[in-house]
Amino acid sequence: MSKDTLSIRHNGTGHEVEYPLLNGTLGKQTVDVRGLYKDLDCFTYDAGFKVTASCKSKITYIDGEKGILLYRGYPIEQLAEKCSFIEVAYLLMNGELPNVEQLDYFDNEIRHRSMLHESLRHFFEGFSYDAHPMAMLVGVVGSLSAFYHSEMDMSDPEHRRVCAARVLGKMPTIAAASFRHSVGKPFVYPRLDLGYCENFLNMMFSRSSPNYIDPNFTVDDKLSKALNILFILHADHEQNASTSTVRLAGSTGANPYACIAAGVAALWGPAHGGANEAVLNMLAEIGSVDRIPEFIARAKDKDDPFRLMGFGHRVYKNFDPRATLIRKTCHDILADSNKDDPLFELALELEALALKDDYFIEKKLYPNVDFYSGIIYKALNIPVEMFTVMFAIARSAGWLAHWLEMVSAESAPIGRPRQLYLGETNRDVIPLAER
Ligand code: SDX
Repeated sequence: MSKDTLSIRHNGTGHEVEYPLLNGTLGKQTVDVRGLYKDLDCFTYDAGFKVTASCKSKITYIDGEKGILLYRGYPIEQLAEKCSFIEVAYLLMNGELPNVEQLDYFDNEIRHRSMLHESLRHFFEGFSYDAHPMAMLVGVVGSLSAFYHSEMDMSDPEHRRVCAARVLGKMPTIAAASFRHSVGKPFVYPRLDLGYCENFLNMMFSRSSPNYIDPNFTVDDKLSKALNILFILHADHEQNASTSTVRLAGSTGANPYACIAAGVAALWGPAHGGANEAVLNMLAEIGSVDRIPEFIARAKDKDDPFRLMGFGHRVYKNFDPRATLIRKTCHDILADSNKDDPLFELALELEALALKDDYFIEKKLYPNVDFYSGIIYKALNIPVEMFTVMFAIARSAGWLAHWLEMVSAESAPIGRPRQLYLGETNRDVIPLAER
């Protein structure tokens, strides 16, 4: 019996089968149970896929116990310190950091793909004035598939590359347009002379309009640097819910723009990317330090659905390394802007009290990436309802990297999980008159 196998014995039939244990370059062994149904006539059950490897990937590695996060083998701390978001997006999508020539070409292409088709720009006029920016984002990103029909042969690597560059280039423009519509301001066109983060901040906050460019508006360098770090930290995270959604949609051969729209929709949930908005709303509800114990007690109460937003993670049972980096950026931003944001002080106090609480210690619940990001976005004057949109811009790099990896794989079977059926057994329909 090989040490690199796992034997599974069906004690009802006495039938025992050995399954191979697959070794990755890092991380836990995985047992390949694809033959289980044929061999032992049963399925596995793993609601929420907590211990299920859905694919093989070379993009991102997380060690939840040690609080490690690597993008293509590079520690997130080094990437956040030494790279631009566009460099990291190139790394995630291509597997290697770009050299100067490759970065120039990629950056230039992304800038040139930031424009929207004029008819698509008019979509925003159809949204209600108080539509949530995420509702507009999910709708307009999905609508890209109604405008860009060329380069749709997914067997062609160049077509795949163009689709990915289009999405990465247009996400900030669509996101900023969603915000401008929600506050009744004119759309601001992207500019070719600005980098990715600067362009986004200009489209968000410039006083420009279609026929007027405000010559005096300049993007605050500190803000675009902070945004660059936030985008890098949010760019990818292995098989999280929204990335798994993109892979599942992509496994059917669906239009790539529709797949990314599916990822945007999944990210919106407060248990996932919507948590940063939920953290700010929670801090506002707590209101003052003396009410923190009341909310910690509610988070521990099994009969109370309240959860401490920004705490806990499916994978990290240690500090989320991104939260550590974001916490520092938070301090720097608030110190620079001389802002003693009461919400930040409240967040620090909540963190300190929660981390001392036996429940949080026992359940290994630490602040995650969303705990501090909202406070920085608030300091950057980004409105709360735009927080998850910011997450979506950054995560589009990761979604695209996983989509590219999946569609270019030799075998990418359509995702089709099974179930444990608990419904009615076979029964006959009784005619309506007799029911
Ligand atoms: C993101 O997957 C990713 O990688 C996601 C992400 C990414 O980059 O893509 O990292 C981004 O989504 C971060 C998470 C943002 N969400 C929140 O901050 C919302 C609050 N957090 C929880 O909803 C929760 O922690 C989850 C959803 C993040 C994880 O849920 P799990 O997998 O069910 O957590 P778990 O299994 O580790 O929970 C263990 C226990 C449970 O209690 P018991 O059933 O054992 O009694 O801890 C409890 C949970 O009820 N628990 C919490 C809690 N989180 C977990 N109790 C109170 N407050 C919390 N926040």
